[in-house]
Amino acid sequence: MNKATRKAVIAGNWKMNKTPAQAAALIDEMLPLVKDADCEVVICVPYVDLCVAVEKCKGSNVKVGAQNVHFKASGAYTAEISAEMLKEVGCEYVITGHSERRQYFGETDETVNLRTLAGLNAGLKVIVCVGETLTQREQGITAELVALQTKIALKDVTAEQMANVIIAYEPVWAIGTGKTATAEQAQEVCAIVRDVVCELYGKEVAEATTVQYGGSMNAGNADELLGKPDVDGGLIGGASLKAPDFATIVAAASK
Ligand code: PGA
Repeated sequence: MNKATRKAVIAGNWKMNKTPAQAAALIDEMLPLVKDADCEVVICVPYVDLCVAVEKCKGSNVKVGAQNVHFKASGAYTAEISAEMLKEVGCEYVITGHSERRQYFGETDETVNLRTLAGLNAGLKVIVCVGETLTQREQGITAELVALQTKIALKDVTAEQMANVIIAYEPVWAIGTGKTATAEQAQEVCAIVRDVVCELYGKEVAEATTVQYGGSMNAGNADELLGKPDVDGGLIGGASLKAPDFATIVAAASK
């Protein structure tokens, strides 16, 4: 499969970090450092930072995303945010299925699918996260698990909509732990994800789909991870909060 036909996407996942004022300062520091990127650059910020991020990134090469979206259009869903709300504030991307949502907030494969559909139907680009826990890796079920998560997340997603889907392989044991998957492990599972997309949608769609790696990707290891044929980008947590580190990762993806 040909990596050159796919767009590399580096997305920062700020998680629950940065107030609006702090977000503005980080974006001011980051924009000049990534302005020459030859890849897609996205920052997924807390809901309350979306407006300031969209305003700051206007006219730049950086796109703004949210970290979750509810699957209903409106109604009695206290504290939830709809896809239409995200669109209206200028959001272009949304993350679904992050392992922290699955682990701490009862997110299931089925709700990940519904959120993914809601995002796509509203015209958002969706970064769908999949990945195994350490126990699952040790049980030797990584391939089956990631394939299953990917299949359920993509249920009812059309081949056309796949142009707006990015799949992020994020081994749970590597997230925020400083324990990165080896480039070989990242490649192996990103290739499995692409095989699943191929099985569901055919070779052409699979070749065009961006598959990211996430989990302690940083300025020091990005080059090696992004050098792998099926690793088309990264979903970056901790390192996306430091402008120079994020810029180094963006530069690695621009090669
Ligand atoms: P990390 O987070 O880079 O801090 O490990 C990645 C993620 O959770 O998307």
